[in-house]
Amino acid sequence: MAARPQRTTEGTQGTIEGTPRTIEGARRTAGTGRPAPAVARVKLSRRVRRAVLVLHMVSAGAWIGIDVLVALMVLTGWFADDVDLRSLAYRALAAFVVWPMLISGLVCLVSGVLLSLGTKWGLVRYWWVAVKLVLNVALCTVIILVLQPGMDAVGTYGQQLLTGNPSRDPVAKLFFPPAVSLTALTFATWLSVFKPWGRLRRRTPDQR
Ligand code: HEM
Repeated sequence: MAARPQRTTEGTQGTIEGTPRTIEGARRTAGTGRPAPAVARVKLSRRVRRAVLVLHMVSAGAWIGIDVLVALMVLTGWFADDVDLRSLAYRALAAFVVWPMLISGLVCLVSGVLLSLGTKWGLVRYWWVAVKLVLNVALCTVIILVLQPGMDAVGTYGQQLLTGNPSRDPVAKLFFPPAVSLTALTFATWLSVFKPWGRLRRRTPDQR
């Protein structure tokens, strides 16, 4: 007999909205006599799943907070009247920001992947998760390949501001990273809350 679908994301067996939750659950619920498809899935207990979700949300929040700080430093460095303050903003940006930002982005990525594999959502089963995965990987890549390599020049520019009027080239494009990142992370948060667009592919008969 087919198991009744449960509308919970926290059980470890059976089905959730008709989707097998574990390989075990899939076997029990297929009810067709055919072996269930192998689903790559991490089995998370309720407590672990909640802990990972907390970590995920804290890392996402930290990432957004750091982006806000970056935006403030960039605006201060460019627009402030006091040259000492402008210099300090650029030097602080160069010294403190990139690694915490990258670490929170990576923690968000790893915890998000774990949550995806440990719940009914899957990694590339629903559009809202797949789009977040792409955004997260793209943002971390930009931090590593674009932002970090330019930071030495930003620090040097901040230093030079104290003694002269250096070219603004090293800091002219610094407005884009926080603007792009804050937009993408706000969008990712919206995706997480509203979970729009449904599945990437139709369910196979075994998944029904
Ligand atoms: C891009 C940055 C990201 C942000 C800002 C973000 C934000 C969030 C937030 C706020 C939640 C809680 C939603 C709620 O409980 O209503 C959430 C849940 C979730 N996120 Fe993310 N996330 C991000 C990246 C990712 C990535 C890369 C993945 C996986 C590839 C992912 C997978 C998930 C899953 C599966 C849940 C639901 C967990 C559950 O309820 O069981 N997230 N995310």
